[in-house]
Amino acid sequence: MREYYAAPMEGLTGWRWRQVQSALFGGADRYYTPFLSPNANFEFQTKELQEIDPAHNQGLFVVPQILTNRAEYFVWAARECQRRGYGEVNLNLGCPSGTVTGKNKGAGLLREKDILRRLLDGIFDALPGMKISVKTRIGWDDPAQWPALLELLSAYPVALLIVHPRVRTEFYKGAVHRDAFTWAQANTRLPLCYNGDLLTPADTAAAPDVPLMFGRGLVSDPALLRRLRGGERATVRELEEFHDALYATYRRDYSGDVPVLHRMRELWNYLAGSFRDTEQLLRAVRKARTCAAYDQAVRQFFARAELA
Ligand SMILES: Cc1cc2nc3c(=O)[nH]c(=O)nc-3n(C[C@H](O)[C@H](O)[C@H](O)COP(=O)(O)O)c2cc1C
Repeated sequence: MREYYAAPMEGLTGWRWRQVQSALFGGADRYYTPFLSPNANFEFQTKELQEIDPAHNQGLFVVPQILTNRAEYFVWAARECQRRGYGEVNLNLGCPSGTVTGKNKGAGLLREKDILRRLLDGIFDALPGMKISVKTRIGWDDPAQWPALLELLSAYPVALLIVHPRVRTEFYKGAVHRDAFTWAQANTRLPLCYNGDLLTPADTAAAPDVPLMFGRGLVSDPALLRRLRGGERATVRELEEFHDALYATYRRDYSGDVPVLHRMRELWNYLAGSFRDTEQLLRAVRKARTCAAYDQAVRQFFARAELA
């Protein structure tokens, strides 16, 4: 049976989301964490420690993702993950954000082949016993860069190459370059995973026959994988329950209303996609500046909401 993976999404698919999504809708075959960013301190931030705390990931197949351009930082972080029981770690070669690429990290490495080669040499030399997967785009600013990039990556024993077939300058917009993925299937021996714009069961039916990774589609519809496995769509009540459970974790763990509401607004940017004609109904939810106002707006929303 084809495997379905949950994409790393900073601010969205952290451990609280994974717990609630898997408990209510059945888990993904693997979850990739939003990126951890090791640095010269050789210490994870509190938020990162929570992300990889085995107690927060019990019963799930979780792969920590690491964003860096320095092999020694990656190797340190990978060993910290290994010590906690993780058998695979993932290298981020896709993040398009200017603050990341400006430091030659994420997709920034796709235009810095020498730094990338040094990074990969250092990683694979130091960690022969560990599964290292890579999540990449197909180039910096031109899909024609893909063959050379794929050749470079194919020289390493990458456990899984997750390909988002866009270049960095396309961010997450425009049509994906399916032909670039097809080209990879014919031109590398590395195991491949496809990621990009899989929003519905129909998109998935037309996708390449490899493990598939879901990002925005799964955050918009947390029951998407259940549907793909032949189960029912989420009902409004189930989505309300999902919302309430996730909201409760943020209220439990964050101090003050502002960070809680920030997280929830981010979630609504996607979850809104599950519902019909949401703009009017969601206005009060988006405008709420206190949790009390938010609670009231959300109850009204769910009382009237209809599925898309
Ligand atoms: C808000 C947001 C945060 C993301 N964070 C990460 C991240 O931490 N690491 C990563 O590799 N990709 C990250 N991505 C990219 C997704 O993992 C995925 O590749 C992208 O959304 C395309 O897949 P989709 O069309 O299924 O959403 C992020 C994307 C978005 C929109």
